[in-house]
Amino acid sequence: MSELFAPLTLRSLTVPNRVWMAPMCQYSAAPDGPDQGAPNDWHFAHLAARAVGGTGLALVEATGVTPEGRISPYDLGLWNSRQQEAFGRVTRFLDEHGTVPAIQLAHAGRKAATERTWVDRGAPIGSGTYGWQPQAPSALAFDDASLTPQEMTAEDIQLVVRRFAESAERALAAGFRAVEVHGAHGYLINEFLSPFTNRRTDAYGGSFEGRTRFALEVVDAVRAVWPEELPVLFRISATDWLTENPEDPREGWTADDTVRFAKELHAHGVDLLDTSTGGNAPKARITTGPNYQVPFAERVKQETDIAVGAVGEITGARQAEEIIASGRADAVLLGRELLRRPYWANEAAAELGAEPTWPDPYHRAV
Ligand SMILES: Cc1cc2nc3c(=O)[nH]c(=O)nc-3n(C[C@H](O)[C@H](O)[C@H](O)COP(=O)(O)O)c2cc1C
Repeated sequence: MSELFAPLTLRSLTVPNRVWMAPMCQYSAAPDGPDQGAPNDWHFAHLAARAVGGTGLALVEATGVTPEGRISPYDLGLWNSRQQEAFGRVTRFLDEHGTVPAIQLAHAGRKAATERTWVDRGAPIGSGTYGWQPQAPSALAFDDASLTPQEMTAEDIQLVVRRFAESAERALAAGFRAVEVHGAHGYLINEFLSPFTNRRTDAYGGSFEGRTRFALEVVDAVRAVWPEELPVLFRISATDWLTENPEDPREGWTADDTVRFAKELHAHGVDLLDTSTGGNAPKARITTGPNYQVPFAERVKQETDIAVGAVGEITGARQAEEIIASGRADAVLLGRELLRRPYWANEAAAELGAEPTWPDPYHRAV
């Protein structure tokens, strides 16, 4: 009996298996015009292929809650009706093929306004047709090559909280059945959480309570519009990879902070913590390799009651099965391996003796 292919129930939503597609920016939406930020044929093919491949839940890439919150001008967005309608085509297909449609809502903070990663190595675009000045908790640039953001006022903060809720309402109307708040990778919420990026002296900075206030306000606002019976997920960078490294004098968000915060997120209605790491500090020494982030998920799972997702260099069927069967995480999220092998879930099901879910027109392939 494969545990990887056992269903997972979060609130009233049952996800058919624990192989989930990690959110992955495609930088392929129109940067302007009426279809700005709307999913197009590329996004449809990208997500539909993983549904055909048997993925239990697919997370749409970081989707901006405002135009200024996009990482690049080519990001998806969900602040208008046209975008909402276009997402409907994606969610319908995923639903029809047994994949739970989920979306990651995001604000990029000081890391907004950059080129696509494959153009000028993702250089900042501060001005010109597509550029803008990013906002952040404090006026600190990521590194010498990055734009210096404007420090957000209390009104700016409240506006972004509202925008997260409005996008969540649109996500629900578009047919999504799980929503993920992007609190990781050095984007806006992560910037508020970490003492490395949050130097504020008002109620949104300073102590752990101050630095976590914005994230909890976003979660509360999203929870208030998201149905009781459907889950809210939160992606966290479990560590900035600073404080835990004795050779790095910089202070950042730590794995201990993550465990403490996981309990609060759970109390505020978050159902699953999607445990990633990094992205908030330049030149942080990151330990990578197969399962490199699983220990963070495992710790949260052991020390709290919240469900957890594990992500990062999970590529093999037996590797994924072990993570779930040993109780280290409740779901695995696959990123790059699913780009290489969109039908990974069905292939893994066959390898583990579970039932692949090939669509009827493919029955001769089985
Ligand atoms: C092309 C690409 C785009 C990504 N975009 C996002 C994103 O939109 N949101 C996010 O939280 N992580 C993003 N990530 C990180 C992945 O979700 C995942 O956490 C990471 O790739 C590690 O998993 P893997 O080793 O299976 O690829 C991206 C990764 C890749 C490769």
